[in-house]
Amino acid sequence: MNQTKKIALGAGDTGKEELLEIQFNEPVYPPYEDSELLAKAVWMAPFYSKAIDIGTGSGIQSVVYSKKHRRTEVISIDISRNALNYAKKNAERNEVSKNCEFVRTSKLACLKGNKQPTIWFCNPPYLPPNEQIDPYLPKEEILTLVSGKTGFEFSLEIIEQFEERATIGDNLYLLTSSHSCPETFEQQLQKRGLIAEQVAKVHIFFETLQVQKISKSEKNETD
Ligand SMILES: C[S@@+](CC[C@H](N)C(=O)[O-])C[C@H]1O[C@@H](n2cnc3c(N)ncnc32)[C@H](O)[C@@H]1O
Repeated sequence: MNQTKKIALGAGDTGKEELLEIQFNEPVYPPYEDSELLAKAVWMAPFYSKAIDIGTGSGIQSVVYSKKHRRTEVISIDISRNALNYAKKNAERNEVSKNCEFVRTSKLACLKGNKQPTIWFCNPPYLPPNEQIDPYLPKEEILTLVSGKTGFEFSLEIIEQFEERATIGDNLYLLTSSHSCPETFEQQLQKRGLIAEQVAKVHIFFETLQVQKISKSEKNETD
């Protein structure tokens, strides 16, 4: 059965209080604490003309950014057909479907030519396979949660793509978890001349979630 969650965002550019309505159902990833933490950071992010929402799920991040910045073109991608169906409906429900293009693809395989985004959002699957995850869940649902052996593999690919495609001033808003190799994260950024600023943080049970705003260091670009 479909479930609906209402999320208060605060005042938009017009001064009007904005409220989101996100509908979801299995196997689509519900707007959990990690989704809401990233959504808060996305709501505060400045205007960029082209955005990409990697692993859009219910579409929450695309809807939030489009509500705030009506002139941005957002590409919302996911590997799951079900997720994209819900994301499309959620964009319509929240009256932002004109801003969003929904593409079924794995990671950034769809990005060609002038589609290069200037702001990136990603709440990746970030858990290592572990005994708390029911191995009998449908594969599509496992894909929303688990990445590789360490939980960091999906994020690392996005960081690599950002290093390759982004220019100075572009930003990647990436959700990270204490369950997914925080030390490796720091090392990988340093190695690539990327810098991170923590813009949101929450502790839930035995986990710390953060949103990192990642950008290219001007120093490294000119060296
Ligand atoms: C943790 S959920 C995040 C959903 C949503 N962005 C949010 O913040 O609630 C991760 C999403 O990544 C998608 N995903 C998993 N593997 C993918 C891949 N290779 N390419 C694109 N999306 C993928 C899943 O289907 C899922 O919707």
